Amino acid sequence: MNSVSVVTGAAGGMGIACAHRFAALGDTVVLTDLDQPSTNALAAELAAGGAEVVALPSDITDPAAAATIAEEVQRRGRLRAVAHTAGLSLTMAEWDRVLSVNLTGTVLLLDALEPLVTDGTTAVCVASQAAHLIPVTDPDIVAVLDHPLSDDFLARAAEVGIVDSGTAYALSKWQVLRLVIRRAPAWGSRGGRIVSLSPGIIDTPMGRRELDQQPLMASIVEATPLDRVGHADEIASVIEFLCSPAASFITGTDLLVDGGSTEQLKSQIDQLMTADDR
Ligand SMILES: NC(=O)c1ccc[n+]([C@@H]2O[C@H](COP(=O)([O-])OP(=O)(O)OC[C@H]3O[C@@H](n4cnc5c(N)ncnc54)[C@H](O)[C@@H]3O)[C@@H](O)[C@H]2O)c1
Repeated sequence: MNSVSVVTGAAGGMGIACAHRFAALGDTVVLTDLDQPSTNALAAELAAGGAEVVALPSDITDPAAAATIAEEVQRRGRLRAVAHTAGLSLTMAEWDRVLSVNLTGTVLLLDALEPLVTDGTTAVCVASQAAHLIPVTDPDIVAVLDHPLSDDFLARAAEVGIVDSGTAYALSKWQVLRLVIRRAPAWGSRGGRIVSLSPGIIDTPMGRRELDQQPLMASIVEATPLDRVGHADEIASVIEFLCSPAASFITGTDLLVDGGSTEQLKSQIDQLMTADDR
């Protein structure tokens, strides 16, 4: 049966790199992104190279869009791989939009695709190293994040103090890590796997924007043992691996692809906290 893969955020740095890899494997690739001209241009480029491609430009926060993606996958064959890269960083939008795209959009997509999971289907949800650096201890915040489809989700988020884009970004990605842990049994019972991947700073339009606009980003690069930012193709290569039989025992977990920076940053934070305590 024909293998189908889905790439969200297909007009972005990581999405483009994933789409090229899935097309090279012979999958029918379903591309979706808010940016219609760029999604269509990528689809035309891949089709010119011989791939079967479907472009479905849409907003990931629209429940109808998730349903359309699922219908298209079903029409084309068997769902093999999902690279969910669509997302917004903290300088790109207000806190409510960041929460809706990064968290509500992820839940809508996973809900729509879960019925299509069969033996070997794998989803990789791109999170962030920010998820590993935010301490989340408040049960009220956790309770809000657990219900991103509720009508009053954003009102409740505001009530618990998620009112800036930085907090919204880190918490939305933190919840993505939890989502894959929680969904792994259901995906496993259908023979599928679901994983999150937390990048460090990656040289994409988003990564470059954050480097330009946030002085803190330079210190993350400085703390990176490999002493550089990552490249979109380095993320795509890990996603290709995670979606392959070579990763057949990896599910319900997160993989940091950050050049080693997160653990260095955690030790720096620990040292600062210890110094504060003295
Ligand atoms: N680049 C980095 O340094 C970095 C670091 C950590 C995590 N991430 C995460 O990696 C993922 C991919 O980021 P990237 O670097 O490729 O960014 P990018 O900005 O190049 O691509 C993101 C894509 O998502 C699309 N998108 C945004 N909102 C959407 C919506 N509502 N519906 C559909 N599509 C939408 C954008 O149009 C864009 O094409 C994101 O989830 C991001 O949070 C990136």
